[in-house]
Formats: sequence, structure tokens, C-alpha cells
Amino acid sequence: MAWLRTRRGYTLLAIVAVVALFGAVGWYKLLREVPVRYASDVDHFKYGSVGVEPASGLPYDIWAVLPDVFPEKIPSGGYAAFGFLSDKDHGTPIGLPVETVGFQRVGLNCGLCHIGSVRVSPSAPRQLLIGAPNSTLDIQRYFRFLFDAAADPRFNPDLLIAAIERKQPVSIIDRALLRYLIIPQMKTGLLAQQAQLWWMDTVPDWGPGRVDPFNPAKVQLVHLPWDGSVGAARMVPLWNWNARTNFGLHRDGLNTSLTEIFLNSAIGNGATNRTIDLAGVTRLQNWIGGLKAPPFPFPMDKSLAARGEPIFRASCAECHAFDGAKAGQPIPIAAVGTDRSRFDSWTTQAVAGFNGLSDYSWHYSHFRKTSGYMAQALDGLWARAPYLHNGSVPSLADLLRVPTNRPKTFYAGYDVYDPVRVGFVSNGPDAAKQGTKFDTSLPGNGNGGHLFGTNLPDGDKAALLEYLKTL
Ligand code: HEC
Ligand code: HEC
Repeated sequence: MAWLRTRRGYTLLAIVAVVALFGAVGWYKLLREVPVRYASDVDHFKYGSVGVEPASGLPYDIWAVLPDVFPEKIPSGGYAAFGFLSDKDHGTPIGLPVETVGFQRVGLNCGLCHIGSVRVSPSAPRQLLIGAPNSTLDIQRYFRFLFDAAADPRFNPDLLIAAIERKQPVSIIDRALLRYLIIPQMKTGLLAQQAQLWWMDTVPDWGPGRVDPFNPAKVQLVHLPWDGSVGAARMVPLWNWNARTNFGLHRDGLNTSLTEIFLNSAIGNGATNRTIDLAGVTRLQNWIGGLKAPPFPFPMDKSLAARGEPIFRASCAECHAFDGAKAGQPIPIAAVGTDRSRFDSWTTQAVAGFNGLSDYSWHYSHFRKTSGYMAQALDGLWARAPYLHNGSVPSLADLLRVPTNRPKTFYAGYDVYDPVRVGFVSNGPDAAKQGTKFDTSLPGNGNGGHLFGTNLPDGDKAALLEYLKTL
């Protein structure tokens, strides 16, 4: 090893040392993972990672200053204005986990869309409904805000670093990483996402409480050409899965394996085969098996509800009771007659594409094309408003009316409850201010079909409505 002691040898050693140092700093600053574990299942559901952050999480420090840098692009109130829910004692909204992967990154998880909220009056505190569909979150507006910010010339290192420095000191190393790596990469990444979701602007907005669950994945994961379909669907509850043995999954029952849908949901949310937290996902899957729906938070008329039960048994139970012969099964689209856009957006090409994916350590084999929408068990029904797969009917009272008498427009996304009509308040000045207009004449938003119960005498409808509160 005499050559090592030559001048060239020393130079080489110095270079190796410097490279190793940079490597170590780089690893520490960009890749070092510090998983956060939550002891309670509810906290894990609200704040735990399913593996999205290492793959597609956004740099937290930049994310946190975007509302300050682009105030004209976001309603007052910052991120909360998009309808995120939050706990007082936690820094970020529910469903947006922050994990350290080199630096802090904010992603999203299942609790984002599968935790709802209710207020029993406009001045009452917001109660969280664990496992209920989120009715306030407008995730499309959140995405559009991020995309618009990234496309703006003011999304540049000078302005963003200055905004971060107004909140906290930034070291020289962090400044360099932000300037030359993190900010440019965040911009490129968001613009690439926007380019892949270009089709979103050619179809009606999702609005609060809805998301198009499969079109993004059809284009981005399965690489199918955009087919022009409108797939927006109302979020669904995640509870009582132990009682849903052999139930089809998703609005059209497009899969029959809860495990496959859990894996696919994590991937759809932005995890990859390398980053997905399989233990964390399995923990959630086991936990929602026994999670119970929240009870109706207002007084009920027990004797009226008791009169409604036999009406439910006679007209609805076949499809909607846990022991109903058709419960958990798809009902042919012609028999239910509701808007068929979401049903048509899931195609045989998509079935083949998903079942043929070879990117993961698992293979899907349970995706299928069915004949219509699922007849779901109606536990926690009161908390699922607005109703039907596309959220086109604001209350249960409205669903029991013939389609021509259902509201043609209303406001979705306001979480004050109307215990009489059984649904969230969907008109009036407060709903108009805090909600978003839902127009049933737009593609995918049709409120027709599901005529079951619409021809019952008024007295029977009142009794049935009271019974539906007890589910
Ligand atoms: C951005 C919102 C969003 C996020 C985040 C989300 N989901 Fe969902 N989820 C939905 C919507 C919307 C549906 C119903 C869509 C449809 O079928 O049309 C759904 C359906 C489901 C279903 C089918 C339930 C049923 O009754 O058929 C399961 C299971 C599920 N999600 C699990 C998960 C898991 C697990 C995660 C986290 C890894 C997750 N979801 C994250 C929006 C979301
Ligand atoms: C033949 C089967 C069938 C019968 C009978 C039936 N339904 Fe349905 N129901 C469905 C299907 C299928 C859907 C899903 C339709 C959609 O989302 O477009 C549905 C959806 C619903 C929803 C919306 C659930 C949600 O999460 O948004 C409610 C509420 C409902 N039904 C109540 C009733 C009541 C009350 C009765 C009895 C008066 C009844 N149904 C009778 C098949 C049935």
C-alpha cells in the first residue's frame, strides 16, 4: 500500500472522504426515514402513514408556507377552507400525515376521506365521525391549489425560502438543498401530476365529499388512454367489515377482496411497492372489521321507528339488511336506474389492466365488471348523506320522493345536520356560504332512479324515515 502514502494517494483519500461525507449528509438530509408509530388505532387511522410520504409526500416546510405565498389562490382560512377536519391538539389536518424522509414530508392517508364530521347546530362544536365518509373535503380544489401554486413564477427558491425563514431559521445546508433540489423537484413533480390529471378539467368538478376513484389510476397506473368517462363518486364509510363477509367492494362491487382494495387504495393514494407500509395497512384492515357506526345524535321517536321496521323489512331489507338475499351484491343497473356514469367508468379494459399489474409484490385477481351498483348494508346511514353513489340526493326524505320532486340543485359540503329531513343542511344562506353548489343536471350528477319506497303513503314514509335513523 506504498502508493497510498504518495501525494496522489492522499488526494484520493481526501476525495473519498469528502464524497463519503456528502453521501452521509445527503442520506441524512434527504433519505433517512423516521417512522412515526401511534399507539392507538384511531390515531393511526387519523395520522399514521400507509407509505405515501416517502414516495410522493410534499416537503412540509414549503407546503406550510404556500397559503402565505399564494393567498389569492386559497380562500381565507388557509388549508382548512378545503374542508379538512382537524383536532385542536394536532398541527396538521386529519388524513395528512407528516413523516420524516430526510426532511419532513406531508402525504395523505385513509382517514382523510373515511372520517366524517357533524355539527348538531351551527354554533355546536364539530364532532368527528370515525369511519364515516368525509362530506366536507374538496380534495380536487386542494390539488388544484397545489398545481396552480407550482405553475406560478412565484414558486421559486427566493420567495419560498424567505417565507420559510419568516417562520423558522434555515441553515446554510438546508438553504442549498431547498434551492437546488427540493423546490425545483417539488415544482416538477406537481406539474407532472397536473399534466397527468389534465382530463379533470374536461368533466364536472368532484365537489365536496366526492372523488373519481378509478380514472386517475386507469390513466396513471394501468396506462389506459383517457376514455372520457365521468367517475365521480361519494366517499363511503369504512366500518363493520366483519359483518360484510362476501360483500362486493366499491360502489359497483368491482372487487370482492378487502385485502386487494386496501392495497390498491394505498397505491392509489401515492404509495409504491417499495414504500407501502404493509403492517400499517393490515392493522387498519383488521381494525375496521370491528369499528361500529356512530349512533344518530338527536332524539328519536321510538314508537314511530318501531312502526317503520316492518315497512323496511317488506320494501328494503332484501337488498339492504345484513341478512338480505341481495345485500352486498350488485343490482343490475336497469333495476336500480340511478345515474350510470360511475358504473360505466369502470370498464373491462380496466379489469384486465388491474388484474394484470405486475408492479407489486402481490397480484390482483379479484377485480371484475359487474352488472350495476351495490346494495349496501345501511348501518350508520344517517352519517352518509348526501345519498346515492354520486351524492346527488341531499337527504333521506328526498330519496323517498319521486325523482322529479327531488332537489335539482343544493349545497354540499356543509356539516350542520337536519334531523328532520335526515341529511346535512343543504340550502339556505349558511349552506350556500360554506358549501358548494351541486347541480343534478351535469353529467354524472343525475338524481334519478332508486324508486323504492317512493310510492309509500306519507304516514308509512314518516315511520320508515324514523326507522332509518336507528340503523
Ligand atoms: C381521496 C379520498 C380517499 C382516500 C384517501 C381513501 N379512500 Fe377509500 N374510498 C374513497 C371513495 C370515494 C370510495 C368509493 C368509490 C367508489 O367505489 O366509487 C372508497 C372506497 C373504499 C373501499 C370500499 C368500501 C366499500 O364499502 O365498498 C375501501 C375498502 C377503501 N376505500 C379503503 C381505503 C383505504 C384502506 C384507504 C387508505 C389506504 C383509502 N380507502 C383511502 C375515497 C378515498
Ligand atoms: C332491489 C334492491 C333494492 C331495494 C329493494 C332497495 N334498494 Fe336502496 N339501493 C339499492 C342500490 C343498488 C343502491 C345503490 C344505488 C346508487 O348508489 O346509485 C341503493 C341505495 C340506497 C341508499 C343510498 C345509500 C348511500 O350510501 O348513499 C339508500 C338510503 C337506500 N338505498 C334506501 C333504501 C330504502 C329505504 C329502501 C326501501 C324503501 C330501499 N333502499 C330499497 C338497491 C335497493
